[in-house]
Amino acid sequence: MSTGKQSFFSHHTLEKNIGLMIVATVVVVSMAGLVQIIPLFHQHSTTEAEAGIQPYSPLRLMGRDVYIREGCVSCHSQQVRMLQSEVQRYGPYSTAGESVFDHPFLWGSKRTGPDLARVGGRYSDAWHREHLRDPRAVVPESNMPAYPWLRTAPLAGQNVADRMRALRQLGVPYTDRDIADAPKALEGKTEEDALVAYLQELGVAARKSAAPAASANGD
Ligand code: HEC
Repeated sequence: MSTGKQSFFSHHTLEKNIGLMIVATVVVVSMAGLVQIIPLFHQHSTTEAEAGIQPYSPLRLMGRDVYIREGCVSCHSQQVRMLQSEVQRYGPYSTAGESVFDHPFLWGSKRTGPDLARVGGRYSDAWHREHLRDPRAVVPESNMPAYPWLRTAPLAGQNVADRMRALRQLGVPYTDRDIADAPKALEGKTEEDALVAYLQELGVAARKSAAPAASANGD
């Protein structure tokens, strides 16, 4: 195809000019990324809550923040993959519509401990408290750290209303009433209460909405 004369708009220009090559590569890769990413912002399955998924109650919201602060996500994922072995072990696989109120999401990728996306209702509150205070008291071979201080750390006085307002900015439908009533819901509660409340609802709504397909797990 060589005509002997090189026009500016030829591969020759691009291949001999590394600056231009970098710019062109970035443009092409970005386009490819955007084609995949932009539709996700407009798909109902990724932007709307699945049936039964509600914004976090103030207590659970604070528990989720304790979970983030203590770095639980660095050992526990919260996403059941679409694999038979995962579904049998944990329950129905995770969907995007479950996480629409999660800012930031806590899917994680490290599984030093088990996935927690479906842990709600699997143990009693008393089991969780015991386990958080001293994991080895209930699972002798556990290498999970203990979190005994959560038992006495109060929630009162923490800025739950500000947290809810910030989430509202991100699209979580809290009403003024929800926000005004929130500090009251935390009265007398500890960080441990909040964390257990958070854990005990994980995956419960998702399990219900997926119930017909979830019989593989036997529950
Ligand atoms: C260093 C890694 C590590 C960290 C950090 C960690 N865990 Fe664990 N976790 C484990 C391991 C390992 C197990 C399995 C043994 C056991 O049950 O203790 C486990 C088990 C659990 C279980 C029982 C899950 C099941 O299905 O049996 C829960 C609930 C749990 N962790 C919650 C938490 C919470 C909440 C935090 C943060 C406050 C946390 N973990 C931090 C490693 C960790």
